[in-house]
Amino acid sequence: MDMDPERVIIFDTTLRDGEQSPGISLNATEKLEIANQLARLGVDVIEAGFPIASPGDFEAVQAIAREVQGPVITGLARAQAPDIERAAEAVRDAERPRIHTFISTSDIHIEHQLQSTRADVKEGARASVAHARSFVEDVEFSPMDATRADVEFTAEVVQIAIDEGATTINIPDTVGYAVPDEYAGFLTRLYEYVPDLRGCVLSVHCHDDLGLAVANSLAGVRAGARQVECAINGIGERAGNASLEEIVMLLATRVDHLGYATGVQTREIARTSRIVSRLTGYPVQPNKAVVGRNAFAHESGIHQDGVLKERTTFEIMDATTIGLEGNDLVLGKHSGRHALRSALGELGFEVDGQALNTAFKRFKELADRKKTVTAMDLEALVTDELRDALRSYTLAWFDVDVSNRRPPHARVSVRSPDDEELLGDFTGDGPVDAIFRAINSATKREARLREFRIDAVTGGQDALGEASVVLELAGQTASGQGVSTDIIEAAALAYVRALSNAERKVTAVADAEPDRELTPAP
Ligand code: KIV
Ligand code: ZN
Repeated sequence: MDMDPERVIIFDTTLRDGEQSPGISLNATEKLEIANQLARLGVDVIEAGFPIASPGDFEAVQAIAREVQGPVITGLARAQAPDIERAAEAVRDAERPRIHTFISTSDIHIEHQLQSTRADVKEGARASVAHARSFVEDVEFSPMDATRADVEFTAEVVQIAIDEGATTINIPDTVGYAVPDEYAGFLTRLYEYVPDLRGCVLSVHCHDDLGLAVANSLAGVRAGARQVECAINGIGERAGNASLEEIVMLLATRVDHLGYATGVQTREIARTSRIVSRLTGYPVQPNKAVVGRNAFAHESGIHQDGVLKERTTFEIMDATTIGLEGNDLVLGKHSGRHALRSALGELGFEVDGQALNTAFKRFKELADRKKTVTAMDLEALVTDELRDALRSYTLAWFDVDVSNRRPPHARVSVRSPDDEELLGDFTGDGPVDAIFRAINSATKREARLREFRIDAVTGGQDALGEASVVLELAGQTASGQGVSTDIIEAAALAYVRALSNAERKVTAVADAEPDRELTPAP
């Protein structure tokens, strides 16, 4: 049956709910890079952050609002005047600004978290939407934990928000508790209680605690919602949010049955997933739907045979439609600056001047060590260059003595945020342990390693190694990533960056709680 597809708005919250995942610590440059890629991907709305949360969050939302063209840019705000004013200031310069404000309607939250009353919640919703509307025309309102709330009370609050001028009403399944028919039923009842809801965009925001985020989002769309809130690779609080790539490919692949369309350029999906995974340090599980490395791999002989004869025997999507193939761009040792610039342009990175010089230097170093440099290598290098933010430690040099007859010894030189040379050394259990502890000794920080991973960017013996580190410093966890053909160097770069990110978080907490101090190494 041919249907005229109905448009579903894709609201991406990778940079807000996604960034709330433990250990993720994106700096403003990294957030801007992700936001630019989300714009290339064609999402309709970017939730760029929670501006009142920290000065760093505010600056990132403001930079995205100023620079990213196309999508609506929104900032999150609790239903409190200072939050709304901060969000309004952060999104003010966007082409199309939105303020997203929320307050809980479930009794569990009202009694225990807000320690408030239903009457205060109604007043909070009224005042916050009215205040937000005094700054922007586009206001989204969310009754948090709605799916565990009394539907009639939630309907009263939604009616108030609409009366005050909310243009989008989002119904969050905050704790991932709903099941699809129940969630759809909740939305249907809201439409019955609040007929004015038909004049707004109804939105769904589902968490994946029971693995139902995408199924619940789809049920919501079938019940009338026309905005889906989701995140790349499904990252977000706890088990995460509905995964953007799954929602989009579900609607695209089953348009015959469902009849909905989005404005997403599906060929940008794979690259967006890689960039988000790289910059957040959150790996994508190999069997993850749509973007996992095995999503298009066929292991059994019967399947391989079938796909070789006719792809559709065992594939419901074509890998090229999500941009998984077509990365055949290759540069070599003799390629010049012009070839590099146009290759980067093809990948969506416009680099000139000093940025092109730096990229060219790193490309030449890589081409000396590796026969061919592919699109995936270039993408990894360019992303790597974004990581050294202002006021960070940087790795200057290192030596590691490795032997199977005595414990490895590492010496490092790290440049401090004030550009001082810090030297350290350590004899560890292995070369990676030795260099990590040598960095602790140089920086006089007692950071503890929580996770360490190393992956190859492409296949082959000379592949670039990509390391990811999660560490803990004074109660704050942070991640860092590093890329090099030398895996010890990739590991050290990742550690130094994780340490910089952790220190930034510790300093932000210390500014808020002046009694707390960084713990120096013994
Ligand atoms: O899960 C949730 O309820 C949220 C709201 C702030 C929309 O993230
Ligand atoms: Zn959420």
